[in-house]
This record gives sequence, C-alpha cells and structure tokens, in this order.
Amino acid sequence: MVDFDVSFLKSLDEPGSPREVSFNFARRNYTCICNAYPITNEEGFTEGKILVLQEKKKVVKLIQRFSGSYAKFQFSDIKGKNPRFLKQVELAKIAAQSNSKILLVGESGTGKELFAQAIHNYSSRRDGPFVAISCAAIPRDLIEAELFGYQEGAFTGARKGGHTGKFELADKGTLFLDEVNAMPLDLQAKLLRVLQENEITRLGDTRPIPVDVRIIAASNVDLLREVEQHNFREDLYYRLSVVEIFIPPLRERKDDIDLLVDYFLERLSRDLKILKPEVSPEVKEIFHAYQWPGNVRELQNCIERALLLSGGKRIAKEHLPQRILQKVEGNLRIKDSPPLVPLEENTKELIKRAIELCNGNISLAARTLRISRSTLYRKMKEYGLR
Ligand SMILES: Nc1ncnc2c1ncn2[C@@H]1O[C@H](COP(=O)(O)OP(=O)(O)OP(=O)(O)O)[C@@H](O)[C@H]1O
Ligand SMILES: [Mg+2]
Repeated sequence: MVDFDVSFLKSLDEPGSPREVSFNFARRNYTCICNAYPITNEEGFTEGKILVLQEKKKVVKLIQRFSGSYAKFQFSDIKGKNPRFLKQVELAKIAAQSNSKILLVGESGTGKELFAQAIHNYSSRRDGPFVAISCAAIPRDLIEAELFGYQEGAFTGARKGGHTGKFELADKGTLFLDEVNAMPLDLQAKLLRVLQENEITRLGDTRPIPVDVRIIAASNVDLLREVEQHNFREDLYYRLSVVEIFIPPLRERKDDIDLLVDYFLERLSRDLKILKPEVSPEVKEIFHAYQWPGNVRELQNCIERALLLSGGKRIAKEHLPQRILQKVEGNLRIKDSPPLVPLEENTKELIKRAIELCNGNISLAARTLRISRSTLYRKMKEYGLR
C-alpha cells in the first residue's frame, strides 16, 4: 500500500494541472507527477477521482526529447586539423571520461556548445539529460529560479505548482552553464555552495534536494581576467576550471578554413539536394585573408548564404557579403602599397630624385622642392649626398 499525503488532491480539480508528489514504496523513494481526473455520476456529482502517476524522471526525459534539450553533437562533428585545436579536442575527450568540471573558453562562434555536447555524449552520462542554461540570456533576477527552481508561492508571479530548476532537470546528466561570466556575483556565491554540497534548495523551500550533476561551464571572455577585475569569484573560477579547454579563434587556425568550408558545403548541399559546388580560388584567398570575428559560426553562415546566392554554381566573389569584401580589400590595399619607411629615408630619396631630374642643377632642384638653396645644401650634407 502506498502511503502519501493526499491533501493536495483538493487542488487537483482541473485536469491538466499536475502536481509533484513523493512517496516511499517497496523501500524506494518515488517522485511522481500526478494528474487527477474526476469521476462524475449521471447527476453530475463527483464520485471519485482517477489518479494518474508518472515517474518524474521519465516525464523529464520525455520533455527533454521533445523540447530539444538533449545533446546531438559528437566529437566526430568537430572538424579541424590545426595542431593547437586538435590538442584541445584530445583534452576534451580525456576530460569527458572523468566527472571533472570543465571550463570551455573561446570567442563567440568558436564551438563551445558543440564541445559541451560532444563531451556529454562521450561521457558515462550520455544516457542522462543534457541541460543548457545561458546566464547572459536570462534576466539576472530569474537566473536563480531557473537554476534551482521554486515552490509554489515563493514570490509574486511564481507559477502555480512551482517550478523545477535546471539542476534538478540535469540530475544524472550534464548541466551546461553557458556564458557563466555573466552570472551576478551574489549568485556565484550560491552556485559555489551548491557545487560544494551537491544539493540544491528550491526558492521558498527549506528541504535540500540531492543532485548528481556534471558541470560544464563556458565563457567567451578570459575568466581569469574577470577574476582580477573582481567581476568573478576566484574560488568559483578554480572550482569550475578543473579542466580548462581553450578553443582558439578561427583567425589563429586558418589551416582549418578549407576543411570547414568543404564540410559545410558538403552538408548544406546535401540538405538542399544539390551537387556540391566548387569554390573559386579568389574566394579561398579572401577566406584566408579575412579575420573572422564571428569565427566558425560566421564562416558557416557565409557559406550558407553563398550557396543560396550561387544557386549551386561555382562560388565566386560576388556571392560573399559586402562586409567581408570591404574588410579584406582594405587589408589587401595596405599590403599592396609600398611599405612604410621612416620619414628621413623618404626625404633623402626625394632629394636624390629631384637632383637627378634637374641634371644636378641645385637651384632648380631647390625650387622644385619649394625649399631654399641653402636648406637643400644643408639637407644634402646631412644625408651625405655630396
Ligand atoms: N570545429 C567545428 N567543426 C564543425 N562545426 C563547428 C566547429 N566549430 C563550430 N562549429 C559550428 O559553428 C556554430 C557555432 O558553434 P557554437 O554554437 O558551438 O559556438 P559557441 O562558442 O557556443 O558560440 P557563442 O559564444 O556565440 O554561443 C555551430 O553551428 C557549430 O556546429
Ligand atoms: Mg554558445
């Protein structure tokens, strides 16, 4: 016989307003999502209720499957051949097999989320949930509620029935704390406590709930510098960065560009059911000259756009965004023009050329240079031109 407090049944009149209940059965503790459906007789009176209990962890799994909060990428989806980059991939693979916390550091679009998912799928937690939360995308007042959840009535505006936090949702799996650098300082202290104790307390509640979660954090800024500037807690930094993986920006691994271009073209043309087009040498040159501030994401978007504009034909310069062309042409123009030399050297060269052009006539050369004869003599002496 199951023994649990049934007082919550009163609030279960409307079907579709499920409650969370916990009870012990056969020496095991079960947490279930409970729905109640009234049984009414012909006169319309409620004679009883049908209770439908579903184990919470199964419901959570279903939610994750249908809301897309699972990890779909594997290490085989991470493309690159740059030795510095590959070293980080190797490090990630080793770290994946442990339970250590991992900190991924890399500029926007370098593949932090890709790494986090691949690590999860390579770990013993691969059958558990992968839950991501972006600390920058959520208003700071709500991060705490999102992470730890809350009880019904915990604050004004709190949802009826309470809210399950990401830590609970990620139980037996991985919690990806994206843009952790954006986490407010007061919350950093709370997070530190949770990481030390491996249990959370929902807002408005006092009961601690044990959680078994592997943390992968990501930052698009150098977190140690944030520590130095007192924007990030040092103790939390050391707790999160047991293994620190640094993903280099694309401009520092240009040897990966051709490979990535080929990979994205292959994948995108397969999706569009067209033949993979060629890329003109000029475009390749531009790709190598450009600095890619948006990193791999920018390259991927650029390829997608070019493929659409080229209609599946050879990808040429005109299929690239103006922004990229302007930047690259600006850089190339600087590269093509004569190198900058000290002003003195230029002056010496100019005087030499003027005297030559005037067949050694100093007065004429001075007039051409719009300086006095005596100044020209002085300069010639200075530069050893006599
Ligand atoms: N090495 C790679 N091989 C293949 N695809 C990659 C690689 N790196 C990044 N990508 C792709 O580039 C896109 C951006 O990657 P991701 O979202 O992981 O970057 P991010 O570092 O999390 O960026 P942000 O800081 O802006 O959130 C994704 O579509 C990802 O699949
Ligand atoms: Mg990301």
